Amino acid sequence: MRVQIRVPATSANLGPGFDALGLALALHNEVVAEEADGVLVRIEGEGADRLARTGDNVVARGVRLAYEEAGRAFKGCALTCLNRIPTARGLGSSAAAWVGGLVAGNALLGEPLSKETLLGLAARAEGHPDNVAAAVLGGLTVSCVTAAGITAVSLPVPRSLAWVVLVPAVTSSTAEARALLPRTVPREDAVFNVQRVALLLASLQAGRPESLGVALDDRLHQPYRLKLFPWLPEVAAAARAAGALGCVLSGAGPALLAVVAGDGGGVARAMEDALKKAGVGGSARAFDVDATGATRRIL
Ligand code: HSE
Repeated sequence: MRVQIRVPATSANLGPGFDALGLALALHNEVVAEEADGVLVRIEGEGADRLARTGDNVVARGVRLAYEEAGRAFKGCALTCLNRIPTARGLGSSAAAWVGGLVAGNALLGEPLSKETLLGLAARAEGHPDNVAAAVLGGLTVSCVTAAGITAVSLPVPRSLAWVVLVPAVTSSTAEARALLPRTVPREDAVFNVQRVALLLASLQAGRPESLGVALDDRLHQPYRLKLFPWLPEVAAAARAAGALGCVLSGAGPALLAVVAGDGGGVARAMEDALKKAGVGGSARAFDVDATGATRRIL
């Protein structure tokens, strides 16, 4: 049996929702998988020059993990990966790889594992649930880590909003960007973020996008990550001046995500120009939201 999996790119945090919110974007990696003796990996597109083609490949590790969880012997798999999600940019390429492998493995096994189980396995592998929840469920996801696993809910997003992603021509490591964060934060900062993440969800639910300008602000991660991305304030200011409701770091960066009511073209150009002025190349474009999450097809 051969299976084809599609997994969306994801932007985590959305400002105040550190390790809790994720947004699935209409940009997909694809994996075609079948059982084989040993691991064979073909990669086209993003990361093809760098990603492992052995059993260390994250998609292959995801397939193996599904077999182990289902209590089935893993002899190997042949994978063809078509990667469209830029790697090491804060757009969930590693989450997409884990989810792609897990969903592929589960499909090859006849789907013994539930979505919740796959989500829990992917979140444990990633170390945080926000990207994998959006990759599995689609839409705007809220996820919580509990003793029993991950509780996640996917919310629809108003179609009137454009989501502009700026991908700088530089890469960054999530581990490094997490290492910059303090172990403890002032209570005022925790309250600041609780207020904003609640307002963010309420604004979207109530169809009041004008509140997003306030709601997208954050004190838990972005201020500490400016060390890695010193151009963030100027690019965000340029996005807002061009009409964006707000502009935040996408996941652990370096990509940025701006929210625009209406067409995002002008904001995309303004963000590219501001980044260029700061001496960094990059390109921006507007994406639709992926409302379905990872899908699988038996070929
Ligand atoms: N919530 C995670 C972080 C997302 O900001 O470190 C990483 O993609």
